[in-house]
Amino acid sequence: MTADMLAMPRAPHTPRHTGINLEKWGWMYMRISGVVLVVLIFGHLFVNLMVGQGIHAVDFAFVAGKYATPFWQVWDGLMLWLALIHGANGMRTITNDYVTHATVRKVLITAIWLAAAVLIILGTLVIVTFDPCLGVTSDSTLWELCQTK
Ligand code: HEM
Repeated sequence: MTADMLAMPRAPHTPRHTGINLEKWGWMYMRISGVVLVVLIFGHLFVNLMVGQGIHAVDFAFVAGKYATPFWQVWDGLMLWLALIHGANGMRTITNDYVTHATVRKVLITAIWLAAAVLIILGTLVIVTFDPCLGVTSDSTLWELCQTK
């Protein structure tokens, strides 16, 4: 037995980070977005399910009304972006923890970010371009309202 073998175990060699430490920023993002998401998600649930007639008021016109206001566009847009990036980054962590095969890990993590990107793009398009009067016909409840626009 050599003196070296009796020494305290040393931490495994970790490469010195030069530049941005993405893992650190990912760790910080999960906590900061988590705090903001508590406000956004519970605000969203409170306004949609408890204020006024609560859930009974939720229909197409209710959603149309919300998306006619920049406040709710920003609220829902933030919720969409923060939650999807948070969820995707969380799934990336789980994949890194459990998938041992390097190629499978790479494929899964790429698929996670692709899915998040597609959902973010589609969701943002809905929030930004939503027009309740598109395709409304005379038998629709929104017909009158859309005529005056
Ligand atoms: C209510 C607001 C939320 C809070 C406060 C919150 C908080 C957190 C925190 C602090 C972590 C890191 C845990 C760790 O590193 O050990 C985490 C992980 C995670 N979050 Fe959230 N989160 C929220 C909403 C969401 C939403 C809406 C989603 C899905 C879209 C989500 C999906 C995940 C996933 C998949 C992980 C990874 C779990 C793991 O590492 O084991 N979270 N969350």
